[in-house]
Amino acid sequence: MTTIQEQMPQTDMIKWRRHLHRYPELSFHEVETAKYIQKVLAEFSNLQVSSLTENSVIAILKGNKPGKTIALRADIDALPIMEEANVAFQSENPGVMHACGHDTHTAMLLGAVKVLSTMQDKIAGTVKFIFQPAEEVPPGGAKLLVEAGVMEDVDMVFGLHIAPNIPVGMIGTRKGAVSAASDVFTLKIKGKGSHGSTPDLSIDPIMIGVEIINNLNNIVSRNISPFDNAVISIGEFNAGKTTNVIPDTAQIKGTVRTNDKEVRLFIKKRIEDIIDGICKMYDASYELDYLFGYSEVNNDSRATDIVIAAAEKVVGKNEMFEAPKMMGGEDFSAYTDVRPGSFFILGGGTAAQECGYMNHHPKFKIMEDCFPVGAGMHVQLILDILGE
Ligand code: NI
Repeated sequence: MTTIQEQMPQTDMIKWRRHLHRYPELSFHEVETAKYIQKVLAEFSNLQVSSLTENSVIAILKGNKPGKTIALRADIDALPIMEEANVAFQSENPGVMHACGHDTHTAMLLGAVKVLSTMQDKIAGTVKFIFQPAEEVPPGGAKLLVEAGVMEDVDMVFGLHIAPNIPVGMIGTRKGAVSAASDVFTLKIKGKGSHGSTPDLSIDPIMIGVEIINNLNNIVSRNISPFDNAVISIGEFNAGKTTNVIPDTAQIKGTVRTNDKEVRLFIKKRIEDIIDGICKMYDASYELDYLFGYSEVNNDSRATDIVIAAAEKVVGKNEMFEAPKMMGGEDFSAYTDVRPGSFFILGGGTAAQECGYMNHHPKFKIMEDCFPVGAGMHVQLILDILGE
């Protein structure tokens, strides 16, 4: 008996992946990438292929009997990085690189389409394959697809991410939050400048900024439960130009990471109150621009049980691990915000396998041996949910 992994079109997946890797395109500019995906899809039968937003490709496969609609998603965009990975198929677009492995996600989903498109008689329901642009840049391609209605007829949605620090053959998952909501803020403090020798005539925006930063750093330690996760980091503080002038203004920028909706809203309110209170105390005014970025990916309990059951068949119980919560962002959250879904981690090789660099590193590299595992998971999920 052949295993599901052995049924995956590995030679094709490697070919597609290497082509995509050679010609990476930045978020919101995946024109040739989308064309290439459409060209590959045209080789398969029984599909309806369309595009719902710029550079997105949606393939619909209807089974022979009616049933639920399950979506499988791959992101397709690359990053503004000059490739330094030691591979024979290095990027030919200078300064652009598939350094997050989205080329591998795309190839594995194409592999799953190829296999499933010959299995219409085994499927009761519909499979929606989503090739999504612009995962890396907010507002993110997922949000735009959701706004265009991609999830309206979908009952459940699944996606994966490749990880270069996990051995090939392993699958990781967890219920609940798997990534963080990532929000950003920009604060402009408006004080009153003066000569450095006459601070009494000033409203010193530097001193006010320092006080604000110190108090923002107390939010996580004093206001957030030790059982919740939150990060507030200040990445920029700009003010003044010389030794003896108190400037008029100061600018502070920071990021907030959380993975609980209430904690997320609470921190925003706390930041606003602290800034307002301290500025009032010193008679300064301010402008605060607080932007919500991607929300946290929330793995539905039932959908995750389905992933666990599929992974037991594809790789076996011993090759599964509980994925850690990360404070990074992922725009798959736009789907899990509106439909039950589950996002899992696919082992892509370890340092011992020459994959010692994390996602977004110029030397990022993965082992292609993991493709049959990822594609096999897509296929197994569909057969488990829609199979007869
Ligand atoms: Ni990524």
